[in-house]
Amino acid sequence: MSSSSSILALLCLICFTGQGLITKVAAKSHVHIVYMGDRQHDNTKLITDSHHDLLATVVGSKKLASELMVYSYKHGFSGFAAKLTESQTQQLLELPGVVRIIPNSLHKLETTRSWDFLGLSPHSPSNILPKSNMGDGVIIGVLDTGIWPESESFNEKGLGPVPSHWNGVCESGDNFNATIHCNRKIIGARWFINGLLAEYAKPLDKEFHSPRDAHGHGTHTSSTAAGSFVANISYKGLGLGTIRGGAPNARFAIYKVCWNVLGGQCSTADILKAFDEAIHDGVDVLSLSIVYSVPLFSDVDERDGIATGSFHAVAKGITVVCAAGNSGPSAQTVVNTAPWIITVAASTMDREFPTSITLGNNKTFLGQAMFTGTEIGFTNLVYPQSEGPTAGGVCESLSLNKTIVVGKVVLCFTTMGRRAITNASAVVKEAGGVGLIIAKNPSGALSPCIEDFPCIEVDYEIGTRILFYIRSTRYPLVKLSLPKTTVGKPLSAKVAYFSSRGPNSIAPASLKPDIAAPGVNILAATSPLYSFAEGGYAMMSGTSMSTPHVTGIVALIKRMHPNWSPAAIKSALVTTAWRNGPSGLPIFAEGSPQKLANSFDFGGGLVNPNGAADPGLVYDMGAADYMEYLCARGYNNSAISRLTGKNTTCPVKKPSILDVNLPSVTIPSLRNPITVKRTVTNVGAPESIYKASIEPPFGTIVYVNPTALVFNSTVEKLTFTVTISTIHEMNTGYYFGSLTWVDGVHAVRIPLSVKTEFLQPHDDDED
Ligand SMILES: *[C@@H]1O[C@H](CO)[C@@H](O)[C@H](O)[C@H]1NC(C)=O
Ligand SMILES: *[C@@H]1O[C@H](CO)[C@@H](O)[C@H](O)[C@H]1NC(C)=O
Ligand SMILES: *[C@@H]1O[C@H](CO)[C@@H](O)[C@H](O)[C@H]1NC(C)=O
Ligand SMILES: *[C@@H]1O[C@H](CO)[C@@H](O)[C@H](O)[C@H]1NC(C)=O
Ligand SMILES: *[C@@H]1O[C@H](CO)[C@@H](O)[C@H](O)[C@H]1NC(C)=O
Ligand SMILES: *[C@@H]1O[C@H](CO)[C@@H](O)[C@H](O)[C@H]1NC(C)=O
Ligand SMILES: *[C@@H]1O[C@H](CO)[C@@H](O)[C@H](O)[C@H]1NC(C)=O
Ligand SMILES: *[C@@H]1O[C@H](CO)[C@@H](O)[C@H](O)[C@H]1NC(C)=O
Repeated sequence: MSSSSSILALLCLICFTGQGLITKVAAKSHVHIVYMGDRQHDNTKLITDSHHDLLATVVGSKKLASELMVYSYKHGFSGFAAKLTESQTQQLLELPGVVRIIPNSLHKLETTRSWDFLGLSPHSPSNILPKSNMGDGVIIGVLDTGIWPESESFNEKGLGPVPSHWNGVCESGDNFNATIHCNRKIIGARWFINGLLAEYAKPLDKEFHSPRDAHGHGTHTSSTAAGSFVANISYKGLGLGTIRGGAPNARFAIYKVCWNVLGGQCSTADILKAFDEAIHDGVDVLSLSIVYSVPLFSDVDERDGIATGSFHAVAKGITVVCAAGNSGPSAQTVVNTAPWIITVAASTMDREFPTSITLGNNKTFLGQAMFTGTEIGFTNLVYPQSEGPTAGGVCESLSLNKTIVVGKVVLCFTTMGRRAITNASAVVKEAGGVGLIIAKNPSGALSPCIEDFPCIEVDYEIGTRILFYIRSTRYPLVKLSLPKTTVGKPLSAKVAYFSSRGPNSIAPASLKPDIAAPGVNILAATSPLYSFAEGGYAMMSGTSMSTPHVTGIVALIKRMHPNWSPAAIKSALVTTAWRNGPSGLPIFAEGSPQKLANSFDFGGGLVNPNGAADPGLVYDMGAADYMEYLCARGYNNSAISRLTGKNTTCPVKKPSILDVNLPSVTIPSLRNPITVKRTVTNVGAPESIYKASIEPPFGTIVYVNPTALVFNSTVEKLTFTVTISTIHEMNTGYYFGSLTWVDGVHAVRIPLSVKTEFLQPHDDDED
């Protein structure tokens, strides 16, 4: 068993989460989760008693067992969290019923133009927003930093009664009165902190022991998923419009599991408790803008409570939507990779905040910025040199000589994230500078600068050209105009620089991420305690922000198709996603160099809500398919039986992960021809004929058998095979293509991703 010192984390890039690791309290015993798989019966009292008995056999007495117990999980699955020493965990592992021990670790956290951009304008009668009654009656569970209930985004105007399938509670606490703060919009609100407190025993300042959001992240993600309509909202005049979430009539069940320490941290024990309760409470969709982040490439299954909790939720028909992570643009950085999860990448949209930078030689460049006030007429421009080995205008090492900077605009370069940018703006302002031009990686995600200080972001190319100008003249000058909001111009969407990329490092044959949604410069409600809030709203970027976009869309689809399984909903999203944006322009992926996006950047593509509500065919999955996946991953019968609560026997011949009925085919090592099977279910008109249309990955030959699928009222499911061979005679990188079933109305497309591998160390090791 690995050590318990891992960190799980919130996932917002530009909302000021801390970068530092939490310092662990020195202690011999740590919180561990004793996971016992699916619950064996319905009597929750008996289940909890059995947990106490089990713990007592190891710690010596019932009394001590009660003291050490942190949580008993009894609704969604069985198990408990308790303070245990390493040797106690070893003893427990020997006991019958214990599947595995999950160390308690920390996860981190990682508008409203975006909805119109995706084709969900409330003014258009043909889209699914009116058809789904805006998600009315669907309950969205949000595992995050809580909620600011007074925000207008959570008003209950026009909403009917609390949905009858709601079985949860609203709990009062610090500055949160259930009678007042829960309503027909926020129908449930709870908080879970014992897992964090038990191990990270630091007092939490600037926090509420209640569902109230001190951080801002949870209010932002919730209002993006399902905020009510609020007119006339902007961020300092930028992005003015009516703000709302994706499913304005859906309801919230708030599970505060992430806390305002070091930028937002959430423990495994608390997250699992929220899953356990949410399954019991009757939520329809769960949204987690949370990742297990450090170490990035560790075995997620062992420590990541999200993989386990989400398995039980999905088994009960609850769709779970999670962030892909903010560790892009490097390959293999995607997290939350379990196949039952919908994993969401982040894209830009068709809105920008361009600002022109005019140099003394009258050359003009465009940067992006969010400041207000007045434009800065021609002013001296300086590139300060710092001392020492990192000489140069490096934003993060700026210690500025006031004489050089005062009254001037400063140019600097950074390779670091937004904290460096915010910091640099503070340093320049402090030294008497009047503006800042920051050259950084080519990402459209804007960082907040302190107190509306004029700071403009440009890419390295423009930064270098400005530096060239400074070097070429004795008196460099610059003029900075105010940023404008441009919307709807033919501007191609891009997968954001920071968005984590595939392939999936845990199971390379299972494509991740699944889908992309807008996650750059998203305006939504936040906690007024968030340092960059403006009248209760803030602009944030991250896969944290793209995740609730998909959550809101899932709520609309759920309302229209209440019987669709989580896999069917995921398939519908993936197979209808835009590879070319709504404008028809191809979608790019930010990075160096920028390139056309492929399925490792955005899975099926950019989410297309209206398409997803009518996909034609779905690649459905149920318990048997997840079992096949687990057998293929090499888990043994007893482990799988425990997890699924069913007596499972993996076939003697290990199934191939390539045959799991995913809405994608990913072959990490192709040499000899490989044949995979898939089954599609017709959810469109009963009498339909689909024909295969193939776009083979470069250098491969793809056959589909049969090439036509004929459905009628009795034939709803059909199986086909895809045979892929390669003409490459050496190892290649991945090439991308697609297989699309077309009936004249629908185009059901799945991505094909193939890598030829001639040197194969393990012949049977294709997963
Ligand atoms: C919560 O609000 C209700 C209604 O205003 C009030 O009666 C009750 O005393 C409040 N509870 C607390 C703990 O303040
Ligand atoms: C919108 O808000 C601005 C500033 O808060 C206010 O001046 C203006 O009157 C508002 N417009 C409408 C239509 O409410
Ligand atoms: C820049 O443009 C202004 C106005 O068009 C003009 O007066 C000025 O001479 C130009 N400066 C240079 C260096 O070309
Ligand atoms: C700051 O810069 C001025 C002008 O270049 C110089 O005279 C002065 O010594 C510098 N001060 C420090 C502390 O380096
Ligand atoms: C820069 O950021 C660090 C934290 O990363 C902080 O301690 C420091 O005070 C900041 N400096 C300024 C000038 O804001
Ligand atoms: C199943 O796997 C677990 C570890 O994953 C191991 O401890 C156990 O002994 C295995 N059981 C059998 C029957 O092989
Ligand atoms: C599981 O199935 C095996 C083989 O069919 C059988 O021997 C065993 O008793 C079953 N176990 C349970 C708990 O049903
Ligand atoms: C549907 O197609 C199957 C196979 O072609 C055929 O056997 C069956 O009779 C058809 N059913 C109807 C209702 O047409």
